[in-house]
Amino acid sequence: MGNIAISGTGLYAPPAVITNAELVEAYNEFVRRYNAAHADEIAGGTMQALLKSSDDFIFKASGIRRRHVVAPDGMLDPEIMCPRLKERPNDQISLQAEMAVTAAKQALEAAHRTPGDVDGVIVSASILQRPYPQIAIEVQNALGIEGFAFDMLTGCSSATFALNAARDMILQGTARAILCINPEINTMHLNLRDRETHFIFGDASTASLLEPAAQAEGDNAWEIQSMRLKSVYSNNIRNNFGSMNRFDPESVGKPDKLITQKGRKVFQEVVPMVAEFIQEHLQSQGIPKAVVKRMWLHQANIKMNELIARKILGREATEEEAPNILQEYGNTSSAGSIVAFHLHSKDLAAGDLGVLCSFGAGYSAGSLILRKLGT
Ligand code: COA
Repeated sequence: MGNIAISGTGLYAPPAVITNAELVEAYNEFVRRYNAAHADEIAGGTMQALLKSSDDFIFKASGIRRRHVVAPDGMLDPEIMCPRLKERPNDQISLQAEMAVTAAKQALEAAHRTPGDVDGVIVSASILQRPYPQIAIEVQNALGIEGFAFDMLTGCSSATFALNAARDMILQGTARAILCINPEINTMHLNLRDRETHFIFGDASTASLLEPAAQAEGDNAWEIQSMRLKSVYSNNIRNNFGSMNRFDPESVGKPDKLITQKGRKVFQEVVPMVAEFIQEHLQSQGIPKAVVKRMWLHQANIKMNELIARKILGREATEEEAPNILQEYGNTSSAGSIVAFHLHSKDLAAGDLGVLCSFGAGYSAGSLILRKLGT
């Protein structure tokens, strides 16, 4: 059948935005109240005072200036420090499916396709709002797609692992075209009371349509020349939330039921792992680094991306070579590299080569070598 292409992409970011300054103001007020409430224990040495956060630190350490969020209410209330949103009735589309559908419609339009051209939907994200019925099947229903749909969870590599699965299914003849959608509601598992992580995440959904390259008609279609996946077990990014929590009621609502990470360890271990992973992938395909026009890297932290790009290129990468979307969106987990691709690939010319790479919890990493189609 020949290669498979990403023939269209879409991006939905919720309209509400929270800046670092707003986030830090709420966090620092929470800290002030916490320390005041525990003043005696802190003075007696039985408790530690919480330290304040800073906008300056956040931008310098991560590159993030603001983030889009689905439910700002409650996030900036020092007494709540959690998104607040009324549960929708079962006969209404769920929030995660709605975000997915919005991005998917854009991807279909960009690929000049309709739901009738698609046989499969994969919803793939770091976290899902419920286990079943699967969000993907709700999306399939909302779009009016015949065929099949299923959910996948692969941390920050959820998008690339889904693209790999979809490519293989199209090559095997299981489907003509598949929508891979990443509705990431990261504020579900963001701990706004944790100074080390409260600034990391934003919410967004991306979507990519995959179909045989030979029939791709989108104006910004990219042939997948090669793909690699990797996983290495690590506890350094972890979330213990799950249905089994109720077996141990004492554990419910504890901080480990939200994202926890050893950020410095993640940084030290993931940067060399990913730089080698991409280098080996390029070498295995006989592609010299000089030919790579762009790297759409996972968007977790600007310093990680600068280092990875420098290790690969042997010099600093320009903003054009390794675009950064962190300032506006924060870490949108698996959606991040697709957001970078969606916003920063249309300017390239037919025949140009790029590498899209995700990495994160698991650890997991996925790399795609892409070549722009067209004349
Ligand atoms: N505000 C102000 N200061 C802060 C702070 C905050 N919110 N959080 C930490 N600090 C302080 C620390 O207390 C420490 O102070 P000290 O030097 O006096 O001890 C200093 O800043 C450095 O802290 P550290 O945790 O070592 O920062 P860092 O430079 O490693 O940056 C991360 C922290 C999380 C941004 C960084 O480790 C990182 O990006 N890691 C990768 C995480 C990641 O991308 N995960 C992927 C999820 S998919």
